[in-house]
Amino acid sequence: MCGIVAYIGPKDATPFLLEGLARLEYRGYDSAGVAVAGRTGGIKVRKVKGRVADLAAAVPARFKGGTGIGHTRWATHGVPSDANAHPHQDNAERIAVVHNGIIENADELRARLTAEGAVFRSETDTEVLAHLIAAHATEGVELEEAVRAALGKVVGTYGIAVLDAEQPDRIVVARNGSPIVLGIGEKEMFAASDVSALVRYTRQVVHLEDGELATVRADGFRTSTEDARTTHRQPSTVDWEIDSYDTGGYEHFLLKEIHEQPGSVERTLSGRLDERFATAHLGGLNLDARELREIRRVKILGCGSAYYAGEMGAQLIEELARIPAHSEPASEFRYRNPVIEADTLYIAVSQSGETYDTLAAVQEVKRKGGRVLGVVNTVGSAIARECDGGIYLHAGPEISVASTKAFTSTVIAFALLALHFGRIHDLSPADGRRIVAALKALPDQIREVLAQSDAIAGLAAEYADSEGMMFIGRVRGYPVAREGAQKLKEISYVHAEAYPASELKHGPLALISPELPTVALVPDDELLDKNLTTLGEIKARSGRVLAVAHRAPEAKLADHCILVPKSEPELDPLLLNIPLQLLAYHAAVALKRDVDKPRNLAKSVTVE
Ligand code: AGP
Repeated sequence: MCGIVAYIGPKDATPFLLEGLARLEYRGYDSAGVAVAGRTGGIKVRKVKGRVADLAAAVPARFKGGTGIGHTRWATHGVPSDANAHPHQDNAERIAVVHNGIIENADELRARLTAEGAVFRSETDTEVLAHLIAAHATEGVELEEAVRAALGKVVGTYGIAVLDAEQPDRIVVARNGSPIVLGIGEKEMFAASDVSALVRYTRQVVHLEDGELATVRADGFRTSTEDARTTHRQPSTVDWEIDSYDTGGYEHFLLKEIHEQPGSVERTLSGRLDERFATAHLGGLNLDARELREIRRVKILGCGSAYYAGEMGAQLIEELARIPAHSEPASEFRYRNPVIEADTLYIAVSQSGETYDTLAAVQEVKRKGGRVLGVVNTVGSAIARECDGGIYLHAGPEISVASTKAFTSTVIAFALLALHFGRIHDLSPADGRRIVAALKALPDQIREVLAQSDAIAGLAAEYADSEGMMFIGRVRGYPVAREGAQKLKEISYVHAEAYPASELKHGPLALISPELPTVALVPDDELLDKNLTTLGEIKARSGRVLAVAHRAPEAKLADHCILVPKSEPELDPLLLNIPLQLLAYHAAVALKRDVDKPRNLAKSVTVE
């Protein structure tokens, strides 16, 4: 998705802008651009279709200025091209704007501005902002006022940064549905759509709220609302480490993040297990035991992998706490006028905390008086702030577009919540102890799976050129199959379909052939015999089978097997998923895909 960076201070803005944009590359983009207000007056702009490296090559040595904005664009209105790349300017080239989000009434505004004499040079919705702001930036009007007046005419979502050639001592930023964070430096200020662009320079940040604007000068900032009321914002400290933003010797961020999982799981668990009472402590829930006992149902909302992690979470809550729980795509939920029940606990799941559909679902629940907890990785993100309480994952920044360590930590967070709920309800101390011990064992068990990376690479190379792959699992195994198929699709572009193993003979068995191999989740649990029968049915149709199992099935039932250490049955899905991450990764490498930035995808989807 699009990225924004901005700098104002005594140094030359350009190096920061280019480095900040490079740090935002992981979000996915198709073009990039920068603008600086030069000390000699005027605004210089460079923008190109392609990579940040192409932009850096196109920026001449004389491209200097102490105030600047930059952008990586992910096309929504208009094809990827130099002209459609941001920043956009008005015809007098006084204003330059970068924008994340979508201006819904852009066509109407464009027609009106054209009638007033504006000449448009791009197909983007953003360009209307440049012309609109310029139209309001009349003699004696502060840039913030011109931006506020322009935004008053706009319908849609935005995070913007605006530069004015006539007021180069400031940048104005604004947020409505698309994140903007300010970074506070020593006599210099930064702004970005994502803290990852800032952490090399400052850890002191301020997250703007929706409907807020800020005038940012080198020596500080002032925030206010859309209707010009001053707001008071306290900085918070970012605790993510700078080396999280480097590949650290791994070939890709994705491989690094897969291998970070023993540590990220330890952080998610840290300080939250109570061995004495065989339960979990979750400080941020803001719900006491009495309130939790009144909850009759749990509804989990997330998108993509967050939704699948929610499916595993629902299973954990039902099994350990015996409370009916269900996961639903937030992107569907928000549009179906959902019934919100007072005794249902809603849980929003999001790694980034900025996914627009999930945020909108949270807002829908809250508007109707429901109570929402967040299971979120990014501290201070929009969803985290919108929720009534929740659990932070502490998985560390996840850079690769495909979610791995945040997915695993989300399932851990649900296991902790389910344990906590369970022990308030009828989960026995013995069962509580069983789960606590199993959770503590997970980091080492994940290490055991990761040690098989090379062997899994060999299997991936063998299966990668298949015409597609089927993923099957029963009950606890089904969300694992869904996430496994999702990961393979996302990064290798191999078609993959997930089915409950029990449903195979109700339709998809017709697809089984040597060209369509099946990845089968075969845990050693009460459904083992049923799963083995399904493998027999596949083999009888000449299907190839790659089993992910606790015990290798007979050779006649599986062509290959990846063995996974056994946990408690409730937690087995989490471990069964790890080899599927490696399988997808190595298949993508074998097929020479752009692993960390798969085509057409963005790290956080901040538009509808
Ligand atoms: C995961 O691999 C995907 N990139 C995607 O499905 C993602 O999980 C989804 O867009 C939700 O993102 P979030 O967790 O940041 O809300």
